[in-house]
This record gives sequence, structure tokens and C-alpha cells, in this order.
Amino acid sequence: VANDVVVITGAAGGMGVACARAMKDAGSLLLVDVNAETLAQAAKVLEAEGLATEQLRCDVTSLSDVEALAQRVSSLGTFRSLIHTAGISPTMADGGRVLEVDLVGTARVLIALQPLVTQGSAAVCIGSIAGYADASAAVEAILDDPLRPDFVAQVTAALGGELDPGAGYSLAKRGVMRLCERLAPVWGALGGRLVSIAPGLMDTEMGRSELSQQEMMPIMVDMTPVKRPGMGPLPGLPEDIAATAAFLCSDGGSFISGCDIRVDGGLIGASRHLGGVM
Ligand SMILES: NC(=O)c1ccc[n+]([C@@H]2O[C@H](COP(=O)([O-])OP(=O)(O)OC[C@H]3O[C@@H](n4cnc5c(N)ncnc54)[C@H](O)[C@@H]3O)[C@@H](O)[C@H]2O)c1
Repeated sequence: VANDVVVITGAAGGMGVACARAMKDAGSLLLVDVNAETLAQAAKVLEAEGLATEQLRCDVTSLSDVEALAQRVSSLGTFRSLIHTAGISPTMADGGRVLEVDLVGTARVLIALQPLVTQGSAAVCIGSIAGYADASAAVEAILDDPLRPDFVAQVTAALGGELDPGAGYSLAKRGVMRLCERLAPVWGALGGRLVSIAPGLMDTEMGRSELSQQEMMPIMVDMTPVKRPGMGPLPGLPEDIAATAAFLCSDGGSFISGCDIRVDGGLIGASRHLGGVM
């Protein structure tokens, strides 16, 4: 653990803070977020709990920012873990911007950190159950090249000229899953691993904002098989994601790579059997 560096992006957010807590004994924590103010607040809360952290303001869509991130990591020590939670949801921006932050940003971070991958490095990227929505083979082929300069225009054209925020989100998250599958052999050759997590309906600020604005959400909450005592308006907790991400980064997860892990209380599975008997 001495000299090991753990990077958490979106560290000012609900899942980010939970991940920082879950990774407190895994190395030096470098907290990253685009919002310097909320990042400083999160660091303060964690400090009061006894967690020492470094912070870096970084917009994951900016090439120079992610290059500065990689430099900071190598100056701190050995790259051990990345938990990439930075992202925006469909109610926060137009479809193009959602694709930029959620998929292009993820690709930028992974590509920037790749030269630092060494034996035991692991990255966990937070996707979404939205990524399980089908996409055509033609669109998927474009999703697999997120760093091309005309990426958003190409996706939009392949969809017939319209990219609404919901489609942008589903495609971005599908792209994240595929990116982790695709880069896993490259990381594996360097001794590293790459996994995505698909959260279901999680009780964070983002989750609550989607709940208040999307008609389908209460139905999906009802459909989620896991019901727990004391459950809030959304069935999942940021700590559920953090615990899974911490396991995936640990030695216990060392044969898991190039796949997506659903942490959704069974929602995707249940939705595949709608109308089934039993
Ligand atoms: N909450 C849910 O129900 C849910 C469900 C499925 C997937 N997810 C995914 O989980 C991840 C974390 O979500 P959350 O619920 O913690 O949301 P959140 O809004 O609480 O946190 C997201 C954080 O990402 C940061 N961020 C946004 N754009 C950024 C950028 N360009 N560069 C760097 N940081 C940026 C924000 O400032 C924020 O602190 C997201 O990728 C989201 O899509 C959430």
C-alpha cells in the first residue's frame, strides 16, 4: 500500500464520496472532480472522518486536464486503482454533452492512465443499467471510437439526425461497457484489469433528480426485486457501488476483467422476464 495511488473521479458526488470511504486503506487517495468547490467540501467531510486526501480539479472531457491528472498520479506514486464515477445524467445536459462527459471523458481518463498501468493496477468505470438498451451494430461501431474528432456528429448522423439526452446517456453507458471489454486485453498485458459496474436506481443527488423528472422511474423502483428495510425513495445506496468497486480493485477481484457487473438489485434481470410465469 505504501506509495499506491487510488484515483476517484466524480469524487464530490454521491458515489464518489462513498468510494473514497471504501478505499481508505487501499493507498493514497487522489480525489478528482470538475467542481472545485464541492470537491473541497467533500474533502473536508472526509477529513473530519480521519481520511487524508489529495484533490485535483479536472474536467474529464479536457485532454490537458486528464494529462495533468496522469502526471499528478505518477508524481504521487504507483497507479493502483481508479474508480471512475464522474458523469452526468440525461436531465443535466443535451445528448451530445452527455456523450462527451460520460463516454469521451471515460475514454480520455483510461487512455491517459494506461501508460501508468503496472502489475496489480485496476480500473472500475461506472456505467449504468441504461447501457443494456439495445443499439444497432452500426451505432456500436461508432461508439467504439469515442476519441475521433467528429464523434458526436457521427453518432447523431447514425441515429438519423436526432440525439436526445436519454439516447445520449444509454449509448454513452453502452460505450463505457464496450470500452472496458475492449481495453482489458491491453491492460492485461501490462498486469492490469478493467471492469465496468452498472448501477441500478441509486439514492444520490443524481438519482433523486432523475426520479423527480422521469415518468418511468417509480415503475422501475417497484420492479427492482431487492427490497430492504428502511429503504428510501430509491432502492440502491452509493455504498452498494462502493463496496463492489472496492472488491473489484482488491486482490479478491484479481481474475475479474473485461466485463460488466450489474449492481442493480436485480432490475435488468427482472425486466427480461416481464410477463413470464413463476
Ligand atoms: N444515481 C444513480 O441512480 C445512477 C444510476 C446509474 C448510473 N449512475 C452513474 O454513476 C455515476 C455517479 O453518479 P452519482 O449518482 O454519484 O452522481 P453525482 O451527480 O452525485 O456525482 C457525479 C460527480 O461527477 C462530477 N462531474 C460531472 N461532470 C464532470 C466532468 N466533466 N469532469 C469531472 N467530474 C465531473 C460532478 O461534479 C459530480 O460531483 C455517474 O457516472 C452516473 O451516470 C448513477
